[in-house]
Amino acid sequence: MDTTVYSDADIYGQKLAPDEFARIQVFIHDNCGIKLPVTKKNMVEGRLRKRLKTLGLGSYTEYLSMVFSDSNPAGDDEKLRLIDAITTNKTDFFREPNHFTYLTEKLLPSFTDEGAGTKRCLNVWSSACSTGEEPYTLAMVLAEYFGVSGNFRVYASDINCTVLERAVNGIYRIDKAAAIPADFKKKYLMRSKTDNTLVRIRPELREKVSFFRLNLMDGFYRLPVQMDVSFCRNVIIYFDQQTQESIINKICASTAEGGYVFLGHSESVHGMKIAARPTAPTILRRI
Ligand SMILES: C[S@@+](CC[C@H](N)C(=O)[O-])C[C@H]1O[C@@H](n2cnc3c(N)ncnc32)[C@H](O)[C@@H]1O
Repeated sequence: MDTTVYSDADIYGQKLAPDEFARIQVFIHDNCGIKLPVTKKNMVEGRLRKRLKTLGLGSYTEYLSMVFSDSNPAGDDEKLRLIDAITTNKTDFFREPNHFTYLTEKLLPSFTDEGAGTKRCLNVWSSACSTGEEPYTLAMVLAEYFGVSGNFRVYASDINCTVLERAVNGIYRIDKAAAIPADFKKKYLMRSKTDNTLVRIRPELREKVSFFRLNLMDGFYRLPVQMDVSFCRNVIIYFDQQTQESIINKICASTAEGGYVFLGHSESVHGMKIAARPTAPTILRRI
């Protein structure tokens, strides 16, 4: 067994050879839909350096032969870690806040008229939920409207297992909570008893959110229910247009007729054939 301990300097000196980077590009594109242009090579090296350190490996060549070896059982798990390392997970509570205003002022009253949130469950999905700020924001907005014991559920999925674990815990640095309105903070967050830099989502709100892994590249989405509202924000931007179109159509198919799909502010369905029509900028209604 190789017991060499590699220092940061050993690992920092390493570069991905062009064919190694190409292999990662193909793997990430085929499995997550994400395009990795050559300009991202330094970023990929930086993120994989942490994996090398954790695994005690001295080179990217060793790392890639472990990931892609058919005979190494750890390879499959490491493929998931590779995906986790490459995906970009930037998110915030109340990110792009006009979406939540639109939901509260325009959509929730009409859902209430048809008994959703009271007589029947109102189902909302955050389809690239990262560390949980988006689904917990949705849960706060719905709890504010229907009461925390209202008849609603938030489903939240992502491809990245590491961010999902953090999302389930619902623990955040206090500065991450700055965008949450003060009265919501009082109702839905609790301060850590042991570390005053941390807050946690209250258990009654955490219970309203179900987290699971889902790859938007899958052929179709196996979801427990049809969604009334689906958020797919700040993720299709990483995909080529054909993949974007296919994902939006699968999101539409997972959303009930007359339901709504929200995209990120810099995302558009311009030029795509999709089963929904725009009702407001970046908000679509399922036909
Ligand atoms: C930039 S974050 C956006 C988070 C949140 N929706 C927001 O707008 O703040 C993008 C998320 O998409 C996830 N993602 C990337 N490719 C994915 C795929 N193929 N399937 C599911 N999630 C994916 C990443 O893991 C990451 O957490």
